[in-house]
Amino acid sequence: VAIPKTFIMHLLLVILLFLESQFCVQSSDSNSPAGDNLATNGLPFPWSKVRLPNYIVPVHYHLLIHPNLTTLKFSGSVKIEIDVKNNTNWVVLHSKNLKIFTATVLDENEAHLSDKVLSVLEYPAHEQIAIFSPKILTSGEKYFLYLEFGAPLSDGFYGFYKSTYKTKAGETRVLASTHFEPTSARMALPCFDEPIFKANYTVRIRRGPSHIALSNMPLISIYAVPEKWHQTHYALEAALRLLEFYEQYFNILYPLPKMDLIAIPDFQSGAMENWGLTTYRETSLLYDPDISSASDKLWVTLVIGHELAHQWFGNLVTMEWWNDIWLNEGFARYMEFVSLEAVYPELKVDHFLDTCFGAIGRDSLNSSRPISSLAENPTQIKEMFDTVSYDKGACILHMLRNFLTNEGFQSGIIRYLRRFRYSNARNEDLWDSLIKTCSEEDFTAGEYCYSSTQATKNAYRFAGEHIDLKKMMSTWTLQKGIPLVTVRRQGRRLYVGQERFLKIVLPNDPSWNSLQEGYLWHIPLTYKTSHSEHEVKHLLTTKSDVLTLDEEVDWVKLNTDMNGYYIVHYDEEGWNCLTELLRVNHTALSFKDRASLIHNAFQLVTISQLTGKTGNSILANRALDLIGYLKSETHNVPLLQGLGYLQSFYKLIEKRHIADVTHNLKTYILQYFRDVIDKQTWSDDGTVSDRRLREEVLSLACDFNYPPCLEKAKQLFNSWVDSNGTVSLPTDVSETVYMVGAQDDSGWAYLLEKYGVSMCETEKSKFLSALASSKDSKKLSRLLQLGMGGTVIKTQNLPSLIYMVARNPVGHFLAWDFVKKHWNELVEKFPLGSFGIRSIIVGTVTQFSSTEELREVEVFFKSITEQVSQLRVIQVATENLEKNIMWLKRNLETMRTWLQQRLN
Ligand SMILES: *[C@@H]1O[C@H](CO)[C@@H](O)[C@H](O)[C@H]1NC(C)=O
Ligand SMILES: *[C@@H]1O[C@H](CO)[C@@H](O)[C@H](O)[C@H]1NC(C)=O
Ligand SMILES: *[C@@H]1O[C@H](CO)[C@@H](O)[C@H](O)[C@H]1NC(C)=O
Ligand SMILES: *[C@@H]1O[C@H](CO)[C@@H](O)[C@H](O)[C@H]1NC(C)=O
Ligand SMILES: *[C@@H]1O[C@H](CO)[C@@H](O)[C@H](O)[C@H]1NC(C)=O
Ligand SMILES: *[C@@H]1O[C@H](CO)[C@@H](O)[C@H](O)[C@H]1NC(C)=O
Ligand SMILES: [Zn+2]
Repeated sequence: VAIPKTFIMHLLLVILLFLESQFCVQSSDSNSPAGDNLATNGLPFPWSKVRLPNYIVPVHYHLLIHPNLTTLKFSGSVKIEIDVKNNTNWVVLHSKNLKIFTATVLDENEAHLSDKVLSVLEYPAHEQIAIFSPKILTSGEKYFLYLEFGAPLSDGFYGFYKSTYKTKAGETRVLASTHFEPTSARMALPCFDEPIFKANYTVRIRRGPSHIALSNMPLISIYAVPEKWHQTHYALEAALRLLEFYEQYFNILYPLPKMDLIAIPDFQSGAMENWGLTTYRETSLLYDPDISSASDKLWVTLVIGHELAHQWFGNLVTMEWWNDIWLNEGFARYMEFVSLEAVYPELKVDHFLDTCFGAIGRDSLNSSRPISSLAENPTQIKEMFDTVSYDKGACILHMLRNFLTNEGFQSGIIRYLRRFRYSNARNEDLWDSLIKTCSEEDFTAGEYCYSSTQATKNAYRFAGEHIDLKKMMSTWTLQKGIPLVTVRRQGRRLYVGQERFLKIVLPNDPSWNSLQEGYLWHIPLTYKTSHSEHEVKHLLTTKSDVLTLDEEVDWVKLNTDMNGYYIVHYDEEGWNCLTELLRVNHTALSFKDRASLIHNAFQLVTISQLTGKTGNSILANRALDLIGYLKSETHNVPLLQGLGYLQSFYKLIEKRHIADVTHNLKTYILQYFRDVIDKQTWSDDGTVSDRRLREEVLSLACDFNYPPCLEKAKQLFNSWVDSNGTVSLPTDVSETVYMVGAQDDSGWAYLLEKYGVSMCETEKSKFLSALASSKDSKKLSRLLQLGMGGTVIKTQNLPSLIYMVARNPVGHFLAWDFVKKHWNELVEKFPLGSFGIRSIIVGTVTQFSSTEELREVEVFFKSITEQVSQLRVIQVATENLEKNIMWLKRNLETMRTWLQQRLN
């Protein structure tokens, strides 16, 4: 799950908040080309661009806001101090769905420039308003813009919106919250809503006497609705420890006098990093030791680590424009792992590789995009909050850190933060900061130090020659896709080559050459051999190259620990040696190397006819042979990696009703992994790794109707029901227990009843997942209706509910039909480009795997508006569907034969 976020500010529970903070805003061109755009009153609107003019710069906002939780409306006033850079009569700024009651321009002494009421033109298509000043605003002078405005609290999850919660006594209460990133601050107040227009804020909030007031305090505090206060202890401790880590790591103290964390009952993304007041979905912040599993705890810790990292990456230093949002999100995603590894080693965040595997899944399709991509309008901007910005961004940073060494990387980002604090940065600013070395004195003097004479010593160490870091990193951020490195070994020579890795288009396809054209990466290669003590490094900057080993070796493994963002394809013999190595002694390779071999092999399966330089192919059975060693695997990362592939093939062919292969694959998995399954206990014992393995393995076994699993789960479910939900189940297996219980009518009904009264969101999400696993399509329809209603099942959970139903083999058509039928309502709840609508599209479409289904999906999206068909996510989803079709075409027969051989 991505953690969409923001950088703007304040949440208002109910409040009196007086806070200076940073905001956003920007523009690209300075001339004011009045186009043919007409304002709502029919007069010409003075500005034709989506981005604001750059000659009016906000400096300080004095905001008074007055939400009324009875009438569900808010009103407010804002006085904005502005600097004028060019003479003009117009002030153009953002406003969306706000009614503007008054607009005035004041001079430096706060005297009115005109005694007339100023006219306000509105241009809704660009979410802009323009205020005409009869007197010219003079370049170099300071002015104040004063506006009064109001609107209903919005429905949905953007701007200043209402949220509700139920008390134990059943009373429904209202609160108001904000979510601004990326383009919704303009729904709460008229403002210059672009990242480069950072400014100071003074905020006052008027509230009723029964509401809570928050103000600046030199403390970390956590807020939740009263019934859930006991679930906040863990988050408080985690926030304290992680904040302390970041202050040391970044060598910059957290600049605000307070940091609040708030769980909001209605929240669309995972969390939002408003400076000093981070907002969270309840499941991302609240932790109940009796109910939350090891995975839930890990999730909460990661999200807090992410949001706190944003206090530096995002709030202190902000990207100049949304094209570089990865500078916020890639960093925050990566720092989750860096911070947890340091502060919570016992949580074993050894699944960072999964983040990169996810990114590769997207990046090996032609519909991927460069990390830095064009994004102008609000829909495009929302779509930037995706796996490319977050996960690929994090993986590229991980590669860079290994390239520069930990110390080199850390001192570089300290420099970057110091140089650009309270300001904005671009892609290249980061590379510049990373290559300039800095002395200890510069740090202590608080300088960011820019010495143009010193080149990076660390990079020297890597490859033995001068490295152009900017050029190297541009091949990763300005170019989409991921390289495939091919390796052929002949004696002591390694012939390596690179090409763009593409999942759907094969070399014999006419478009292959054009899709390869111009693609070249600077790849920091690393490798180990049977004879090497240390990893060896080489920077590959050409299409092909020859490396010479010191001696003859038995095997070579490239991309040590998968620290680099590339896939490796060996020649026939290379794969054989590694397969054999895993079989006889898998501990000769690190668990990360093992997981990356499994990953690479299964990626290559999709493109079964691969003919790179090595000219060989790797079919499903080769990959299956490779994981033949998994019986003796004890580390959960490679084990779950291999099991995960088998499970995903199973899910694919199960939906296609390919009965023989489905049956054989299930039998094979249960036989082959029987020892691992039987070894699991129904408890919360063991390390975090043990616990996460147990959760996955038992869930799979019961899903496959493995009798001992069903029996135990049934027994636990019955005792839970008998106690009327009061006995506590082992947290890691409770979801599996509920799933088994949900398979009959009375169990299902009981879970739905408990869903309605539970006071713990984590528990509710487990109930919902169980309810959605029912094999009765009427029950699934009922759930979707409840999700649409938004009362029993909150609207915020609808996208994940749709996905849960879609992945159910009896639910995928149902979910898709539901999406088609309710498309307009869904888009109203989850705006185009938002995380919610994207998970709905991807979650349903990617369950399909036939050409008829592909056609149907294409027809549907063509039939709706132009704007929708331009969504990037639709290409991503349909290309994933094509990938499924290809996979079946290329591998089903191989799989069928392979299974028959193994089971006879
Ligand atoms: C605004 O002023 C800048 C410098 O003072 C100048 O370069 C630019 O052309 C001006 N823009 C307009 C639209 O007058
Ligand atoms: C915001 O306030 C801080 C502290 O008072 C001050 O240093 C900074 O210059 C201000 N920024 C702007 C854009 O006015
Ligand atoms: C909200 O509006 C109601 C009805 O107009 C009014 O009675 C109440 O005082 C208002 N509350 C606040 C906090 O303004
Ligand atoms: C690949 O994507 C590019 C846009 O990035 C597009 O122009 C091209 O048509 C696509 N090619 C194929 C074969 O899908
Ligand atoms: C397996 O590999 C490890 C690590 O290289 C080595 O220490 C061990 O001796 C090997 N065991 C066998 C049986 O070859
Ligand atoms: C069972 O628990 C629910 C709360 O979850 C409560 O409302 C109900 O009264 C209980 N039933 C019995 C028979 O105790
Ligand atoms: Zn984030």
